[in-house]
Amino acid sequence: MKTVITYGTFDLFHEGHYNILKRAKELGDYLIVGVTTEGYDMSRGKLNVVEPVMDRIEHVKQSGFADQIIIEDHVGQKIEDIQKYHVDTFVIGSDWLGKFDYLKEYCEVVYLERTKGVSSTLKRSEEYKLIRIGVVGSGRIAGRFVAEARYVSGIHVAGVFNPHMESARAFAKEYELDICEDDYDRFLREVDAVYVASPHGTHYAYALQALEQGKHALVEKPMVLKKAEAERLFSLAYAKKRVLMEAIKTAYAPGFIRMITMAKSGLIGEIRDVEACFTKLTGDNTREFLDTEYGGSFTELASYTLLSIFKIFGCDEQGVEFSSMFTEKGPDGYTKAYFTFKNGIATSKTGLKVKSEGALVISGTGGYIRVEAPWWKTKEFEICYEDTSKNEKVYSQFQGDGLRYEISDFVNAINHYGNTGYKLTQEESVKLAEMMERFLEYRKSKGS
Ligand code: CTP
Repeated sequence: MKTVITYGTFDLFHEGHYNILKRAKELGDYLIVGVTTEGYDMSRGKLNVVEPVMDRIEHVKQSGFADQIIIEDHVGQKIEDIQKYHVDTFVIGSDWLGKFDYLKEYCEVVYLERTKGVSSTLKRSEEYKLIRIGVVGSGRIAGRFVAEARYVSGIHVAGVFNPHMESARAFAKEYELDICEDDYDRFLREVDAVYVASPHGTHYAYALQALEQGKHALVEKPMVLKKAEAERLFSLAYAKKRVLMEAIKTAYAPGFIRMITMAKSGLIGEIRDVEACFTKLTGDNTREFLDTEYGGSFTELASYTLLSIFKIFGCDEQGVEFSSMFTEKGPDGYTKAYFTFKNGIATSKTGLKVKSEGALVISGTGGYIRVEAPWWKTKEFEICYEDTSKNEKVYSQFQGDGLRYEISDFVNAINHYGNTGYKLTQEESVKLAEMMERFLEYRKSKGS
């Protein structure tokens, strides 16, 4: 009996998939088909797979060619499978020509001609209209966004808005964007969605106007600085059937999600403490301090630390207290926020004028998880126990600047409107806004 194996994502099952499975089956007696998991696709940079793995498996099954379907979830698995299933022939499309020659040590490798004119990528672009997104603001993060959006299919950065035309023009030139505008109304008419990356205090008005005009909005953290503003934006988005998402890259990063879910699954017992620290030394003439009203370490960095805390303990804190060192012009250079929850406590430490170790430590009754800085771009973390011989390190992918993950989720949310995001929930975003509000009240009470 001759065993043949082939692999693929098989998203939006199409004629090309059908043909390759048919021909692969004809090459032997028994065909094994490996279908990739979402996590594996994500880790190899394939971010826009539309269908869940179970649906993709179902479609492969319905083709009638597969004698066995397996899941592919890690690099190097092909060699394992070939040996495990005593595979005689490995088959893949000609778009991979030469890439799998290393398997010749284990079995025959056959590249089959691809079916012309069809692919999942093409089908996705036909099925879903290309989203034209406009960037509001032209600072550092806006530039990173444009660069990262190029890794995500289904979205095109069409232009930039800045009330100062000179800045808009320079940005559009640098990033080769078609549109630059200083008139927000006109700008909105040209796009389907906006990415708001303007100064913190302006997010609300820009997002509100965009949603009112039926545009989707991805808003840089902190999305807004008042609880009521967050609630208003979410209810407007709901009424208009538009997507509103807060852009905290960490929330959408595979490593961070994995770390949180592992922590929540009882590995370290019941969680009693979260200590999250993020510091980044900056000069006085940076955006963080020039914005004397809403700048400072808490508004700038606490979205990350608070995200970890609320992900672990939920959004029903019993109390929060702040303690800050303020700069002369007003904004805080260093802030500690202490939280109490029903069954635990937490600390957020943020600094722009104080450098600290910057780790995230989640402590439980049976052990702790430690993630070193930059934990907000989670690539690896360690699960530690009393018996250190049981300690375990976990690694994950974090590609580029990481914004591609949130952008990819934003695209998926738009294309499948109705899927409410679990990676950063509305409740969490509203809670973050409330914390910003409470911090700013505290700051005011200190006369700063
Ligand atoms: N394939 C093919 N002809 C096509 C498209 C895909 O023969 N027109 C083959 C691929 O070469 C691979 C298998 O089908 O061996 C599964 O490919 P997959 O990556 O799932 O499909 P694509 O349509 O190429 O997906 P994408 O556009 O997302 O890369």
